[in-house]
Amino acid sequence: MSDYNALIAVAKQARENARANFSNFKVGAALRSASGKIFGGCNVENATYGLTVCAERIAIFKAISEGERRFDAIAVVTDTDALTPPCGACRQLIWEFCGDVPVVMANLKGAIEVLRMRELFPKPFDSSNL
Ligand code: THU
Repeated sequence: MSDYNALIAVAKQARENARANFSNFKVGAALRSASGKIFGGCNVENATYGLTVCAERIAIFKAISEGERRFDAIAVVTDTDALTPPCGACRQLIWEFCGDVPVVMANLKGAIEVLRMRELFPKPFDSSNL
């Protein structure tokens, strides 16, 4: 697990910036590029509710917009005993942009579980279906 420590630390830090005024459910994410750079993200809610963007997607879009194209792990951190897996929309984008990466789920108490995208998203729709 130790090679995920930096990733989890960035996700925890990003979680502090969450705008979760409506759900009070703060999420932090961190995405590591193949070059070793780590991009944090937090969930950002607004009054429409529906335009909320999850922490994972913020991290992905930050990295993509900085020119990164290859990734080797993503972390999701919440303050819950049951660790938080990415929502369905995020699974689609993690799959398309990051492929079969390990998804590191962690909480503030130090619990960690790692599942690969193939396990979380077993029969994806992607460009190979077009
Ligand atoms: N959320 C995330 O940011 N990532 C997840 O993996 C699960 C859900 C956010 C969306 C919303 O702001 C709040 O958590 C409650 O669903």
